[in-house]
Amino acid sequence: MRKASASAPGKVILFGEHFVVKGSRSLAVAISLRVKTTVAESRGKIRFYSPLAGLESWIDPVNLEYGDERLAPLARMLEYLRDKYGFNIEPHKVIVESNLPVGAGLGSSASLAASYALAYTAFMGSPLSKDELLDVSYEAEKVAHGNPSGVDNTIAVYGGGLIYKRGVGFERVEVDLPPGYRLLIIDTGVPRNTRSVVEHVLNIASMTWEASEHVYRAADKIIDLALKALRNKDAFLLGTLMNLNQGLLNAVGASSEVIERVVFSLRRSGAVGAKLTGAGWGGSVIALVSEDLVGRVRESLSGMVKSIHDVVIGVDGVSLENH
Ligand code: PMV
Repeated sequence: MRKASASAPGKVILFGEHFVVKGSRSLAVAISLRVKTTVAESRGKIRFYSPLAGLESWIDPVNLEYGDERLAPLARMLEYLRDKYGFNIEPHKVIVESNLPVGAGLGSSASLAASYALAYTAFMGSPLSKDELLDVSYEAEKVAHGNPSGVDNTIAVYGGGLIYKRGVGFERVEVDLPPGYRLLIIDTGVPRNTRSVVEHVLNIASMTWEASEHVYRAADKIIDLALKALRNKDAFLLGTLMNLNQGLLNAVGASSEVIERVVFSLRRSGAVGAKLTGAGWGGSVIALVSEDLVGRVRESLSGMVKSIHDVVIGVDGVSLENH
């Protein structure tokens, strides 16, 4: 049977979420949790199977209507592949396998779009280049997120790490954890709502701007120190900067009782640094932990959170997979 598979990584924001909305920089990296999409021959409709998302639905290959709202971004991407890149949209089936939590601020929608675009175009015999994949996956992200910065799909396509500044763009950076340290991602299991948190934080910032502009400037400065800590493999400085960033995020209203409880539990059991990642209020927390303490840290969270993932950062972007 004719088929093709591709996988793409998720992302975490290590530093600078929220502050990036008003012009400070943020630092995001690819993580070793991936979405794998397989495209295979089928008849009639385009059929989607995603057990993790509990999704089993369809897109009509002729008029691109869909049976589940969650497929709207991918229907738009297929339309774009047809109209801009000249692909025929044939019936096929799509199987999505993933170890990346959905809706936890880890970029799963961008990873799905990038891996599907590569798998489908390979299935059709003309796999797109990385620059083209960046272009088409952004179309899906616009439907999924309104006015996205483009961080998630850039990481999904190119992997590695990047610094982003609004209105200026991306700069790719090499990132690697200090030897002997791991990055844990903790899904609190509390659903997040990026739009409401962003609105709340912007409100606080505008009410207090004469004071809070210094917080935003401090957050931007953290990026320089974090790059230095990463270059020098200085785990203690890196962790301390995560804690400092968490304090600033709390100050502008992005944290919550659940997040603070997880963060303090992580620190108490030995994490050198811990902070929320993404929008906050719920979603995920990240922690820098020395390898020998990972077991203890995991134990301290048992029964308190939805899942814990021990990840490598700066991994490769979207790529074809062998069957
Ligand atoms: O939770 P995520 O991955 O959607 O990240 C939101 C990041 C913010 O800085 C809070 C918003 C933004 O658009 O940059």
